[in-house]
Amino acid sequence: MNLFNVITLFPNLIDEWKNTGIISQAIKNNIIEINSVNLRDYGTGSYKQVDDAPYGGGPGMVLMPEPLDNAINSTNVNINVFLTPSGAELDESLISELLEFESINLICGRYEGFDQRILDLHSDYEVSVGKSVVSGGEVPAMYLLEALIRRIPDVLGNPESLINETFTDNKVDYPVYTRPEKYKNLEVPDVLLSGNHQKIDEWKKNNLKDI
Ligand SMILES: C[S@@+](CC[C@H](N)C(=O)[O-])C[C@H]1O[C@@H](n2cnc3c(N)ncnc32)[C@H](O)[C@@H]1O
Repeated sequence: MNLFNVITLFPNLIDEWKNTGIISQAIKNNIIEINSVNLRDYGTGSYKQVDDAPYGGGPGMVLMPEPLDNAINSTNVNINVFLTPSGAELDESLISELLEFESINLICGRYEGFDQRILDLHSDYEVSVGKSVVSGGEVPAMYLLEALIRRIPDVLGNPESLINETFTDNKVDYPVYTRPEKYKNLEVPDVLLSGNHQKIDEWKKNNLKDI
């Protein structure tokens, strides 16, 4: 069973998402476990403070090291993955690398991000989901988990879904169609309706595009 802990100030986002689609199915089938860890529970003082103004001035607040340190130390996992916009850009080869680990903490930033010392202490990977900045690490963490979890054996109903998928062998998947055969003057290619499996396979192969 693969274990994923998501350390976040917004555990409700993760808990809601956990109940959807293949993620909830994989949890029900005991293939994965996902826990949200509420960073606020590890805040300091009676206000459960988790952030403070940056040394040297500047806009926004910075996540303090101590609450994150305590939240991370409350878990027992193989690796800590921090979501940062400047991290290694996520792609299928990084997903393959991360799939080597059975238990992972995903640590979500907010505001101006993490005090550098928490990265120095605990970071095994910094991962970015793309060259744009969003307001928090939760959506990037869910994106990363969706990409990881669908590649764990037995998660997808049909494992063939992973074959020929976009990015496999630097190709873009062939176009797909469903009913009706004609929609607003646009028709499904004849070959897909022919029942000739050899021709259909050829068509699919010929319609994989290079990236
Ligand atoms: C507003 S961002 C902080 C940006 C930071 N000041 C900077 O310029 O690098 C707050 C948090 O959102 C998350 N985040 C934002 N964009 C991301 C991206 N492209 N990939 C992964 N995480 C991201 C990170 O966890 C980050 O700590």
